[in-house]
Amino acid sequence: MTRTDQPEREFEYGWEDFEAARKLLYAVTGISMADSKFQLVYSRLARRLRALRLKSVAQYLRYLADHGEEQEHFVNALTTNLTSFFREPHHFEVLARFLREHAGRGRRFSLWCAAASTGEEPYSMAMVALEALGDNPPVSIIATDIDSQVLQHGRNGIYTAERCRGISTARLKRFCLRGKAGTPHQDMVKMRPELGRLIEFRTLNLLSNQWALSPPFDIIFCRNVMIYFDKPTQRKLLERMVPMLTDDGLYIAGHSESFTNASNLVRLVDRTVYVPVRRTT
Ligand SMILES: C[S@@+](CC[C@H](N)C(=O)[O-])C[C@H]1O[C@@H](n2cnc3c(N)ncnc32)[C@H](O)[C@@H]1O
Repeated sequence: MTRTDQPEREFEYGWEDFEAARKLLYAVTGISMADSKFQLVYSRLARRLRALRLKSVAQYLRYLADHGEEQEHFVNALTTNLTSFFREPHHFEVLARFLREHAGRGRRFSLWCAAASTGEEPYSMAMVALEALGDNPPVSIIATDIDSQVLQHGRNGIYTAERCRGISTARLKRFCLRGKAGTPHQDMVKMRPELGRLIEFRTLNLLSNQWALSPPFDIIFCRNVMIYFDKPTQRKLLERMVPMLTDDGLYIAGHSESFTNASNLVRLVDRTVYVPVRRTT
């Protein structure tokens, strides 16, 4: 579609509105939206316009400027939350190995899942922790995201059976509760409390100057979020995160995120797995 095409729409929307929306989104979240996201921005915001009974995106943007509390809905509407259980499975093997190799002598593990979305990633981490270290493992997982709505989903820990396809049968048996047949919950799966006990879900904007966190972390899972940021933002975030790792800690990135150009900060040791580079002087 070109900038002049104007298909029939329920709400008025043009390139100026798109520019204003993406500028605001970038300022608040660091997310860069390409021109190709023009239609996506409209369809995501249309839900908010309907809820607020507004007629145009321009009117919505004015509403947003006057109502600070709407910003949360704006951000929630525009984030992309795609995730799944055991996505990029080799990272969970790396996690299991790390926990087994470093366990003992009273060591507690602190893990940060920095873009937790609806929770599938931190629950996968919790399952691995229980498998590697046994019941009540000395592990805490802080699961953060900018989107308050997806975090609430994570706290509830209930997923459709369809979304649990990445969980093996053995893990489903051990860590999940299936809704009873013949009830409205029959196609739903609930994470067992022993997993939830290891995880704290908390809203955190990676772009904000202050992070309410308690480093050091043994492992930071920061997967498939950096891709939404421009290079300078990625670099700044990496510069803040790497010093939060223990000396033997790991930074785990998403499959299309590469930091080989940040060799003064991190060193690649496995597929998209990095260790911190510590200055010796
Ligand atoms: C595509 S999901 C990735 C989820 C998961 N890490 C995975 O790899 O499956 C990206 C997540 O990053 C979050 N996000 C985007 N911008 C953010 C920011 N500035 N601070 C914190 N989280 C952000 C989104 O809300 C979304 O849930």
